[in-house]
Amino acid sequence: MNIVCIGSGYVGSVTGAAFSALGYKTTVIDINESKVALLNSGQSPIYEPGLTELIRAYIGKTLFATTSYEAVKSADVIFIGVGTPSRPDGSVDLSYIKAAAGSIGKSLSRDRFTVIVNKSTVPVGTADLVSSIIEKESGLRAEHQFTVISNPEFLREGYALEDVFFPDRIIIGSVHHAAKDRMRQLYNSIVYREGYEAAAKYFYFKHNPEAPQAKYFETDTKSSEMIKYAANAFLAVKISYINEVARLCESLGANVPDVARGMGMDSRIGEKFLEVSSGWSGSCFPKDTAEFLHTSQQYGSELTLVKTAMQSNERMHAYVVEKIQHRLKSLHGKSICILGLTFKPNTDDARKTQASYIIARLIELGAHVKVHDPQGMEMFRSLNSSLSVEFCKSPQEAAEETDMVVLLTHWADYQRLDWTKVAKRMKHPFLFDTRNVLEHHEMERAGFQYEGLGLRKYQDLKVSELTKLLV
Ligand code: UDX
Repeated sequence: MNIVCIGSGYVGSVTGAAFSALGYKTTVIDINESKVALLNSGQSPIYEPGLTELIRAYIGKTLFATTSYEAVKSADVIFIGVGTPSRPDGSVDLSYIKAAAGSIGKSLSRDRFTVIVNKSTVPVGTADLVSSIIEKESGLRAEHQFTVISNPEFLREGYALEDVFFPDRIIIGSVHHAAKDRMRQLYNSIVYREGYEAAAKYFYFKHNPEAPQAKYFETDTKSSEMIKYAANAFLAVKISYINEVARLCESLGANVPDVARGMGMDSRIGEKFLEVSSGWSGSCFPKDTAEFLHTSQQYGSELTLVKTAMQSNERMHAYVVEKIQHRLKSLHGKSICILGLTFKPNTDDARKTQASYIIARLIELGAHVKVHDPQGMEMFRSLNSSLSVEFCKSPQEAAEETDMVVLLTHWADYQRLDWTKVAKRMKHPFLFDTRNVLEHHEMERAGFQYEGLGLRKYQDLKVSELTKLLV
């Protein structure tokens, strides 16, 4: 089977590398010449653990990268994995999808049946839109010479290869028999782990042949498109819920890690996505919740829970700033160290990160902000050029002479720091761990006045007063 992936971002490059490692001839097409050149030189266009190694192993063998749409002619399956950014009103901008559909249409073969797969997160009905564009451009008949189906991608940044090789589920949205057969044939390699021995040599993670098999679920196209949004919005609601519970824990003197643990023991709730943070962010949840809400409003069925979770998430960012303010009193002339600019560890992605909001607010309130991130400084700098912050080469340098360290992203590097040395370099050793990942007794022994979010020990902070400050 010949595979084509349109787009060399997260979805396209990870999907392309994975199928090429499983023995399929896979061509990644991108209009961006420099990304194609990177791939051809054996490098990854994105920061993702293990991806460069995989690309280097297969490029020129089963993996190919090009700016030309020629490979579309001999493709059996074409994955569309281009970006779907948000417009200011929350609706999704489908211009890259439309452009990709147009280019596919111009190159599609008359002599074979091609399955075109929407893997990008796209609004319900996009498969029909893509189909109509291809029909118009190619003059071919949809459902006879080609079909467009949905197969949403659930990869998490930082764990993308694990999610691709060991997914929880594979969702196929199509009622077309031949397309369903072809996708079953293709995904057999993942469900039954065919060809994994060769690929596993390049896994950066521990290959576990005993891991549960992926669930394979076929449904109609629209339901499949909806599953992606409904799942991401549900996870965002779940995080916002535990974040609100954390705030209440502070007021009442309860301990949110214990509350989350006890809740998660109920298999109906599950233990995952109950970790407290300064709010969810990144390139998926903010965009997907906004689009899902926008669609629901357009169709007169407003998703009020999603809307509330979005508002609650903004309140969580603000709450973090209020806690810093409460601890340092006035922020005028204070120096604050922010550790972690990416929306989560193991990625260089600093798009839509809460760090932007929190830092901007701290500067507005008169603070000087020093920052460090193991991978995300470059992207953060380019996206936030209006923010006047001091970028530092190491967390130690960022903490130097500051009044408080705020841990926003729980990179393993930060968890392994010699915190005693960090505390000694600070003006005032206050440490605010918004992810509750550092052990507070250890931090106190290191010389810090430590606080987290929703932790029992800090009920004496009278944080309930803070909530009054929140608008
Ligand atoms: C998400 C989905 O998990 C993935 O299935 C989908 O395909 C794309 O969107 P991703 O955006 O990479 O993946 O990150 P994820 O790990 O889900 O985290 C999203 C945000 O929620 C991050 O800001 C993270 O720090 C935060 N989070 C996550 C919490 O605050 N608490 C948690 O318990 C889990």
